[in-house]
Amino acid sequence: MNKILVTLAAAAGLALMTGCTPSASNGSDSDEVKIGFLVKDAQEDWFQQEWKFAQMAADEHGFTLITQPAEDAEAVMTQIDNLNSRGVKGLIICTPEVTLGAAVTLKTDGYGMKLFTVDDRFVDADGNALDTHYMGISARDIGQSVGHALHEEMTSRSWDPSEVGAIGLTFDEIATLKDRTEGAKEALIADGFDGNRIFFAPQSKPNIEVASSVTAATMSQHPEITKWLIFGNNDVAVVGAVRATEQAGLTADDVIACGINGSAESISEFERESPTAVWGTILLSPKQHGYDTATMMYKWIADGEEPARETLTQGRLITRDNYKEVLAEEGLAE
Ligand code: GLA
Repeated sequence: MNKILVTLAAAAGLALMTGCTPSASNGSDSDEVKIGFLVKDAQEDWFQQEWKFAQMAADEHGFTLITQPAEDAEAVMTQIDNLNSRGVKGLIICTPEVTLGAAVTLKTDGYGMKLFTVDDRFVDADGNALDTHYMGISARDIGQSVGHALHEEMTSRSWDPSEVGAIGLTFDEIATLKDRTEGAKEALIADGFDGNRIFFAPQSKPNIEVASSVTAATMSQHPEITKWLIFGNNDVAVVGAVRATEQAGLTADDVIACGINGSAESISEFERESPTAVWGTILLSPKQHGYDTATMMYKWIADGEEPARETLTQGRLITRDNYKEVLAEEGLAE
């Protein structure tokens, strides 16, 4: 092998190992746009969907998307360093901790990396939203639609309000999650539900196991209640709560639960042969949160077109009865 071939082979080997093209391995290729997308929980279907749609944008516009989970502060910091060394010029992030804003902006500014926050918003030391570019859901409105939907369904089943209680799975450290459960509570009360019969079950961590155990604890404090409405910050929380009601021997006839996300966690409940208590969910748009954010970031880097500072997205109620049509309409059917 002559010297040039050996050099090429070595470069190709390096490219294979690093997953980079040789010319871009030091981040100096000005033509190739690279965008990083970090999420707080890569196991959750919502985030997998966001990545899927972001990749669609990458394929369409011809940029490189690097997706990585970042489940705590340390992972976020390490990943940003890694992304920088791979030549990434823009970061989209759903942060695992909302208080990381100052540290993250310091790093991305230092690296000349553009920053776009999605889903969960950074807050400053006083808990106020940090003014970074952001796409999130219209959390309070969406929470309210959960409350209204639950009340309407309970009314259509002619439930006796004196037998019914409501459990809300909360996680108030994150504003977008707090606004959802507060919105649901407000709407239930506005529709005439007794506020004293709405019990918040705070989650120490927003996951399925914790949702299940705090629901079981809340139910056991109210043995007089035989029928439950369930709402929460997302599908994971609501499905976790429903598992606890099943453990307690309740069925879809005794419990009406409505999630938020319209992700696999609730769709798989709709697909079961007999209905579970997961009656509905508000379908959000992982397409907007993935495809649109990635496209906006690409245009910002490639064309200098700065995205809107804030984009709030909407949701739509789906149930066992209409989910197939709506998913197809929204371009989300598999
Ligand atoms: C938060 C939740 C996710 C999803 C997104 C939507 O990050 O944890 O489940 O609802 O918001 O923006």
